Amino acid sequence: MNREHRARLASQAAQILRENDRGAYTVPTKGLYPFQWNWDSCLTALGFASFDEDRAWREMETLFAHQWPDGMVPHIVFHQEDEGYFPGPEVWQTERPVPTSGITQPPVAGFAARRIHERSADKAESARRAAALVKKIDRWHAFLYTARDPRREGLVAIIHPWESGRDNAVDWDEPFRRVPHEGIAPYRRRDVEHADPAHRPTKEQYDRYLWLLEHFRHHGWDNELLHDVSPFRVVDPGFNAILIRSCADLAALAEELGMDAIARANRARAEKGLKALERLWSEAHGQYLCLDRTTDALIDSPSVGGLIPLLAAIPEVRARALGSRIEALGARCRFVVPSHDPADPRFDAKRYWRGPAWLIVNYLIADGLVAAGMDRVAEAIRASSLELIEKGGFAEYYDPMTGEPCGGNRFTWTAAMVLEFLNGAARQPAPA
Ligand code: GLC
Repeated sequence: MNREHRARLASQAAQILRENDRGAYTVPTKGLYPFQWNWDSCLTALGFASFDEDRAWREMETLFAHQWPDGMVPHIVFHQEDEGYFPGPEVWQTERPVPTSGITQPPVAGFAARRIHERSADKAESARRAAALVKKIDRWHAFLYTARDPRREGLVAIIHPWESGRDNAVDWDEPFRRVPHEGIAPYRRRDVEHADPAHRPTKEQYDRYLWLLEHFRHHGWDNELLHDVSPFRVVDPGFNAILIRSCADLAALAEELGMDAIARANRARAEKGLKALERLWSEAHGQYLCLDRTTDALIDSPSVGGLIPLLAAIPEVRARALGSRIEALGARCRFVVPSHDPADPRFDAKRYWRGPAWLIVNYLIADGLVAAGMDRVAEAIRASSLELIEKGGFAEYYDPMTGEPCGGNRFTWTAAMVLEFLNGAARQPAPA
């Protein structure tokens, strides 16, 4: 790709960020997702940082302004009314000053904050803004390692599939059988009005998502209770690896800012989490798997969640095995990285998180591969990602077999990841 070409893609990406900018936060895309989403915002901040540092910090500051008193950072902030989304604030009923959802999402904030600070041009201003966020991110991490890890195992559980960020992954099928799907209030889905129903979660899955929501609402959104009363408690290697990496990054950032107690606490969390992560390794699959906390058994589902641990400082032998696994997946589809292994009969090339490739996941994995010295595999992911954009535009996700763009279009975090890839994430290896 020549210089001119890169500049054109970068300017298209920046244009999408501006289009979806609502002043102090961005929406993931117009129509389908009209509010602020947690991990979308933190990853989008990385995109903003390449052309507007102030705006990058503001994206995260706005999200953290809605942190709950117990430290949780909600997965959606409903800044303004919008009829086009379900379930909206009237369903969640979390009683927050500005309505929010009542569950969380993958904690990428520590990772994003460190990266934005590292690259900042105005270090003094950046340090001031980072320091305020560091305290809040630390409280979020503390929340996760208590409320979601009540037995202090070093691994946190998600209590709703939406918390994983991979809403309808095959990973949840088995534990989801324990979640009832009857007796919920009648509802009208809005997602299927914006996107092709054949690509979206099924009705039965949606019923169960709502059953859990109503169950938690019934328990007053009290996070001291929710983990234990939830019939769905799953330890996702992706969520945990993101948290471990964010703890390590927050520790480094806090140290630089002279916040020693926070640095120590987060380093200890990362170390404990890394050791505990070994529990999720499957030799048979050559990757990590989810663990069902209610049965204490690994879930037989080779999804991309088990590759995201590349992002954390896992042992070299594990990183190498994941690198080979990604190469094997690459041989099974035209574009990497599929969210589920195409060799598994449950793979579904167009259905959301059951097969399609997502740029944010590609970015996180490529970052880990570079850190582990696997530049060639990282470069293949980067090339695949940019090719998808060129062929199909800035879509929500893509069919990994054909490259067909799916879901919403002009998608904010996809654009942010393009900026990151263009700015050198998963750089090409230096010529020998
Ligand atoms: C979907 C995705 C989730 C994302 C949200 C907004 O729910 O599964 O990861 O945060 O859309 O883009």
